[in-house]
Amino acid sequence: MRFGHFDDAAREYVITTPRTPYPWINYLGCEEFFGIVSHLAGGYCFHRDARLRRLTRYRYNAIPTDAGGRTYYLRDGGDYWTPAWAPVKRELDHYECRHGMGYTRITGARGGVRAELLFLVPLGASAEIHRVTLRNEGRVRKRLRLFSLVEFCFWNALDDQTNFQRNWNIGEVEVDGSTLYHVSEYRERRNHYAYFHVNAPLAGFDTDRESFVGLYNGLHEPQVVVEGEPRNSVARGWQPVGSHAVDLELAPGEERSLVFLLGYAENPPDRKWERPGLVNKAPAREVIARFSTAPQVDAAIAALRAHWDGLLSAFTVRSPDEKLDRMVNVWNPYQCMVTFNLSRSASYFDSGIGRGMGFRDSNQDLLGFVHQIPTRARQRILDLAATQFPDGGAYHQYQPLTRRGNHEVGSGFNDDPLWLILAVAAYTKETGDYAILEEQVPFDNDERTRAPLLDHLRRSFEHVLSNLGPHGLPLIGRADWNDCLNLNCFSETPDEPYQTTGVRDGRTAESVMIAGMFTAIGPEWARLLSHQDRTAEAAQALEAVRRMERAILEHGWDGEWFLRAYDFHGRKVGSRECAEGQIFVESQGWCVMGGVGLGTGQARQALDAVAARLDTRYGIMLQQPAYRSYHLELGEISSYPPGYKENAGIFSHSNPWIMIAETLVGRPDRAFAYYRKLAPAYLEDLSEIHRTEPYVYAQMIAGRDAARHGEAKNAWLTGTAAWNFVAVSQYLLGIRPEHEGLRVNPCLPAEIPEFTATRRCRGATYLVRVRNSGGGGRARLTVDGRALDGDVVPWARPGAVVKVDCVV
Ligand code: BGC
Repeated sequence: MRFGHFDDAAREYVITTPRTPYPWINYLGCEEFFGIVSHLAGGYCFHRDARLRRLTRYRYNAIPTDAGGRTYYLRDGGDYWTPAWAPVKRELDHYECRHGMGYTRITGARGGVRAELLFLVPLGASAEIHRVTLRNEGRVRKRLRLFSLVEFCFWNALDDQTNFQRNWNIGEVEVDGSTLYHVSEYRERRNHYAYFHVNAPLAGFDTDRESFVGLYNGLHEPQVVVEGEPRNSVARGWQPVGSHAVDLELAPGEERSLVFLLGYAENPPDRKWERPGLVNKAPAREVIARFSTAPQVDAAIAALRAHWDGLLSAFTVRSPDEKLDRMVNVWNPYQCMVTFNLSRSASYFDSGIGRGMGFRDSNQDLLGFVHQIPTRARQRILDLAATQFPDGGAYHQYQPLTRRGNHEVGSGFNDDPLWLILAVAAYTKETGDYAILEEQVPFDNDERTRAPLLDHLRRSFEHVLSNLGPHGLPLIGRADWNDCLNLNCFSETPDEPYQTTGVRDGRTAESVMIAGMFTAIGPEWARLLSHQDRTAEAAQALEAVRRMERAILEHGWDGEWFLRAYDFHGRKVGSRECAEGQIFVESQGWCVMGGVGLGTGQARQALDAVAARLDTRYGIMLQQPAYRSYHLELGEISSYPPGYKENAGIFSHSNPWIMIAETLVGRPDRAFAYYRKLAPAYLEDLSEIHRTEPYVYAQMIAGRDAARHGEAKNAWLTGTAAWNFVAVSQYLLGIRPEHEGLRVNPCLPAEIPEFTATRRCRGATYLVRVRNSGGGGRARLTVDGRALDGDVVPWARPGAVVKVDCVV
């Protein structure tokens, strides 16, 4: 069942009923200020850090779900309603929500009044614009009163939800004309405040929640709206809110827009006050002056659109499959940018108070956005490398505000170092900026210990080699990519984190996945070295890769597929000898991506086992059979009920590894079939089962053992976005930057007999036209009319337009 449709020309998803199977959200902001906005206008906003600089309050896990956010109430005679349907939930004559690139437009109509709420964060400002457009569609003159409402958060979102004995005493506001200022804690250590402004005179306002809502009322019946009279309350302690009341009179057919601005402002410490006790409002006024008129807002929308045109035009495709096109051209790269901005911090499943920036997550995310924002990708790489230790290991996470490693989590996730090599390889191929390898980067952010980035990568590579176990395979540490496979942790005490407590200094538990990663990413390291004319070192690196390959074939092959690991006691994990967890997906994907068993048939065999044992209607499960009880020696993986998350869920992130692997063994039909199962645009008709947004990937889909097989969770902030983009753009469509040039080598089934693609890279534009027989065979290329040897089109000079014809 569908709950809306794609509008490809507008690059929007159009939701046509407020009763979606789950709140379907969008993100506002692409620089320093961000908002999450649901199709009911639920959500919140923050400046840079979702935990420490939260402007507005949002209650996760609330009843009803998705309560609160940016609420606009309309009073029309005796009736009152909310154009975004919730929270008043009066039936609407018309409802529509359009989630677009960095903006959301919700329209509701009732009783002859049509109200459109447009939400966006303009470029170059730390504020949300809410443009409210009201139109009288009836035949009689309308006298309307509009009430706005946001609930302010006491900045630190965790403290805000826990420390009531303090927080209910600190609330302070200032009211200045049509601007409401939230200035709690400003008198002491904070130099920042929030403001909520409207470009119209007020009929009244409220800043005290209890005065506005009423102590025993809900947001669906706030007493001020029910009575129609603002109380001009000034919050002192308790819960500050921002609510404007604006009167409008509309003749039949008449339309009027109001511009609300919800923003963040900061003052230098020596300019905090206008005069004693009065907050310096200059930075807020400056932003208000820039976005207060209709033409200013139109210009902001146009600028945002141009910004996204620029980002999305780096790679576009036109094929006979509109779903493929909308994923590749719009929604997948859009989601990749959201993961760049948010990492895993704030979504409707990530509360914004938990995790920082993950080392492995961010390096993988980069694979999906590097072509859109190479300059910012460069900085991200340097930030990540600066959280590395001299031994090549890395903090597993760092805090976005300070860019410092997170001590609570620490290091010891032994896959982490390799992802940095992969990210730098992708970055240099994309940009040709090899100077980054010479950048001096500190270890653990200690400026006294700088070394060139190249040296960081060397230590990453060496970290694997200096941590090998009894079979010559890499030690897993606290976990590898599969955070929940904790082979050294043995957690028996509730409430302790699986990965960070009780860690034994195990020198036995080994990961075949890291071994596979080493065979796939090691050659990338060698290529970088060769490119820097370090051929001897490159040869040594390749020798180490070959040793690893031999170790995998000798100790990591289970007969029909690759093993997953050896545990602390040296027992096999992911083997037919196991009662549960006989086959895991990760090692199949990575070993094949590393070329292990390609020549011997084992690669195909492993992928056949994936198809036979792990594939379902909704995607590839992480492992089978699911663990039915808690295995102390395996850790968190077995803590989940069967079919969920890492315990035999369809962990979307790992599916594209199999798609890529299938292209490497030359099976386009299978590769594309997997792609179609997972890519959300193809799941639109299953929305009542899938439940999360049909325009973005979700991290996890319940596996076959789960009660609700096919139901997705954790939409948006997942490495699935980057990896699916890599799989579809670089392996299925087959357009992939290499150090020497742009490789064009598609691997698609016959149902995509042709396509054209435009790829911008290193300042040149490549116009690619592909004719495809569907056999997954060799690509023959002509470049600007001349036949090419091989499938790598040499880099053209910046500004050049190169025509590439390809026959497969
Ligand atoms: C984490 C990743 C991890 C994945 C699989 C995600 O929640 O962000 O770092 O690789 O789970 O366990």
